[in-house]
Amino acid sequence: MEIIILPTAVEVGRMAAAKIASVVSRKPSAVIGLATGSSPQDIYADLARRVQGGEISFAQARGFALDEYVGIPLEHPESYASVIARDVVGPLGFDPARVRVPDGRAADLEFAAKEYDAAIRAAGGIDVQILGIGANGHIGFNEPTSSFASRTRIKTLAPATRAANARFFDSVEEVPMHCMTQGLGTILEARELVLVAQGEGKATAVAGAVEGPVSSFVPGSALQLHEHATVIVDEAAAAQLQLADYYRHVFANKPAWQRFDATPAR
Ligand code: GLP
Repeated sequence: MEIIILPTAVEVGRMAAAKIASVVSRKPSAVIGLATGSSPQDIYADLARRVQGGEISFAQARGFALDEYVGIPLEHPESYASVIARDVVGPLGFDPARVRVPDGRAADLEFAAKEYDAAIRAAGGIDVQILGIGANGHIGFNEPTSSFASRTRIKTLAPATRAANARFFDSVEEVPMHCMTQGLGTILEARELVLVAQGEGKATAVAGAVEGPVSSFVPGSALQLHEHATVIVDEAAAAQLQLADYYRHVFANKPAWQRFDATPAR
């Protein structure tokens, strides 16, 4: 696992965006795993600037969202279908027909979840998966004790997650109780994982994911099982990393051939 610690949240977004941009530059038809929430917003903002500058294009790319609430109307501004359309598909210039979000409104949710995994496989698998992490260590909506073998399925949100996401709704009661999320097994099949975290509220989760024992108690620790995972965090989110100085040392001494261009788009 590579751990990159940067001074600010904006630099975290820029660095992660550079990684995504390098994948899409190499493979314009790349399949991108799309996270929602606050964490990836700076990534999408930087990618949108790169698209506007003509550096990259998502016109041929495909996208699969990580998760969706169950039972939320499609047109609700906080359905992940709405969020992905507003924050990702539009600004990055994806073809809307090539981007999918789990169907939290399906009559047969179990079938819809299985079909979603099958659609990811049929698309050739995810080339690079963008991830945030919840304060309780969840990735996607895989709450603590989710199986590392889990596939896309229905989960019950932890009270802490509903409370954290209440900021997007008028009250915590309005946050749906259930969700459909890619499983940890699904996420681990992506060819590359890029997890970003910002702020001191994520410091415990980041330390657990990066340095803690591999345990379903901290779903983010599943990244330790992946051969190509990068964790990009700001100083506040890095505050509880025991080997922070070592990660800085490694990054400062990265061989030239391993570097990628994180130059901010103009
Ligand atoms: C949310 C999402 C996750 C996200 C995580 C952290 O509820 N389902 O995909 O990574 O929890 O959220 P945020 O980035 O808003 O802190």
